[in-house]
Formats: sequence, structure tokens, C-alpha cells
Amino acid sequence: MARKTNSTSTFESTRRRRRRDEDEVFSPEEQARFESMRSDDPADGPVDDGPPTGDRWSIWDESEPLQRGPKPWPEWLITDLGAVDYELGVLKTGKEADVFLIERAVPGTDRAVLMASKRYRSAEHTQFNRAGDYTAGRTARRTRDRRALAKRTKFGLEQAAGRWAAAEFEALTRLWETGVAVPYPVQILGTEVVMEFIGADRTAAPRLAEVKPDEVELESLWEQAGENLRLMTEQGFAHGDLSPYNTVVHDGRLVVLDLPQVVDIYANPLGRDFLARDVENLGSWFTARGLPRHELDDLAKELFAIARLA
Ligand SMILES: Nc1ncnc2c1ncn2[C@@H]1O[C@H](COP(=O)(O)OP(=O)(O)O)[C@@H](O)[C@H]1O
Ligand SMILES: [Mg+2]
Repeated sequence: MARKTNSTSTFESTRRRRRRDEDEVFSPEEQARFESMRSDDPADGPVDDGPPTGDRWSIWDESEPLQRGPKPWPEWLITDLGAVDYELGVLKTGKEADVFLIERAVPGTDRAVLMASKRYRSAEHTQFNRAGDYTAGRTARRTRDRRALAKRTKFGLEQAAGRWAAAEFEALTRLWETGVAVPYPVQILGTEVVMEFIGADRTAAPRLAEVKPDEVELESLWEQAGENLRLMTEQGFAHGDLSPYNTVVHDGRLVVLDLPQVVDIYANPLGRDFLARDVENLGSWFTARGLPRHELDDLAKELFAIARLA
């Protein structure tokens, strides 16, 4: 906060002195200012129980059972209470979220696992205006939440960020259980979604947009794209933002990312359009590399039939 100029502070202090009761230490204005500076976030408070190593204790046990990934838990998952999380760096910063590479490790052992941590932003400059279309079929259950969203208070923005995180975690969970190639959802805590890291060593897998497949690989990737879309459609989902930037390729496997805006194709009146757009946005990358156009149209038709939207 910028310091006040001398003239202002002299003026204010005179004014305050006049208003203040004899026995009050702080003026009402000062009280209010101190209140506004106080944070409700315990993470802002003094840290007196930090981990012996790492950047924080593992947040695993802070998530409720339903905020944790589906069972059976993969064998690489670390659930030890004594585990710590290390921040290894930023994988990508975005408009609505930042993705970090973290490592969860058990001190004194060689057990450690890399994970991706996607943290939704609640700051004013995020672009929640795009939310309208996607959330057409959803409702804010508690009026308090809805009012807060409308007022765009800090609480409201925090709620919105938390809702995006929850939507992504829920979609990852549903799709993982269905067999769609998505990162395993480890846990959600507030505005943070921790998931399987797709990559080798500390290097994230390249996005589809960045790979240069030969003819055979292209064929395989398109087949996988179709299979993932079929499975999603059977579950009543359109991705909502499918593209060569929201898919990565790891060891020849196509993995689908970025699911907070997942669309319920039955509840959303634009469901069919979202489905068609997903096929088009991903498929055009393939047609630009030699895939016959009719394959796109055939897939779109097949998906409409699955969803009975034909
Ligand atoms: N689980 C993950 N494993 C590896 N890389 C990831 C993972 N999740 C995200 N990324 C990387 O971060 C980028 C942004 O993630 P994404 O979920 O698409 O968020 P955004 O909303 O910012 O687009 C991805 O394109 C990918 O490169
Ligand atoms: Mg993305």
C-alpha cells in the first residue's frame, strides 16, 4: 500500500483525534482498515508446524474421502501422513488456472511421485464471462453462493474458482472410471486439483499440436481420439474445449486434459453444437495432416447417434 503524503496524514490524524473516544486506542477507521487487512486464509498465517523438508505437508489428508481419486488407488499414489509436497516449477500459466509440477515424497525413503497441480485463480482478471454457455445446465445450489457470484466479491470469485476445480475433478473422476485416457485425479482441495503427471522425468508430454507423427502414428492417434470421444459421449459428456492444445501424447498414447467446462449434452441446449465443435477442433488437426475429411463427418454422425441427437 502506498504511503500517504505528509499533508494528508496530518489532516487525517487531526480528524481522527477529534473523533476518537478518550479510552479508544484506534479510531473506527483504523479498526476497519485493520479488519480489511486480516486474511481468512490460514495459509497466510504464521507457519509454526512446517514440514522438516519440502514446501508443505502433503495435502492428501486434508481432502475428504469424496475429494480423493477413485479406487482402486494406483500403486504410485502416496497417502502417507508424513509425506511432503515440493513445488518443482510451473508447467503452464493460463487465464483461469496455473499448472504446477509438484513432487510428493516420503522423507527418509526413496518413495516419491511427480504430479501436476492445477490451481484455479480467483483474482479479478480471470475471464469468468466465458462461463455462461458452459454452465447453462448447472445451478448454484445455495443462494448464498449465487448471490456471491453475482456480486463478484472475493468470496464469490473464490467460490467460482472452486466450482471450476470441482467440475474438473468430477469430470476427471467420471471419465477415468469409464476408461477415457485422462490423468488420474489424485485429489481436490479448494481451488487446487492434483492429478497424475503425464510426462517423462520432469518434462511434460508434448501437446498434440507439437508432435509430428508419421502416417502410422497419425492413424493410431485418430483412432484413440475417436475411442475417447465415443466413451465420453456414452457418458453424456462433450469435452467443451477439445483441441490439439488440450490433448497430449505420451509414449504414443493420446491423453485428454483440461475438463472444467465439460458439457452435459442432455442438459445443455447447445450440447450437440459442443459435440460437433469438439470433433471439428480436434479433427481439423488430423485432416491438415492427411486424414480424409469424411472420417470427421462419420465420427460426428456416430457420436450424435450414440447421444441420440441425430
Ligand atoms: N496432468 C498433466 N500432465 C502434464 N502436463 C499437464 C497436465 N495438466 C496440464 N498440463 C500442461 O499444462 C497445460 C495447461 O493445462 P490445461 O489443463 O489445458 O489448463 P488451461 O486451462 O490453462 O488451458 C497443458 O496444455 C499441458 O501442457
Ligand atoms: Mg488448456
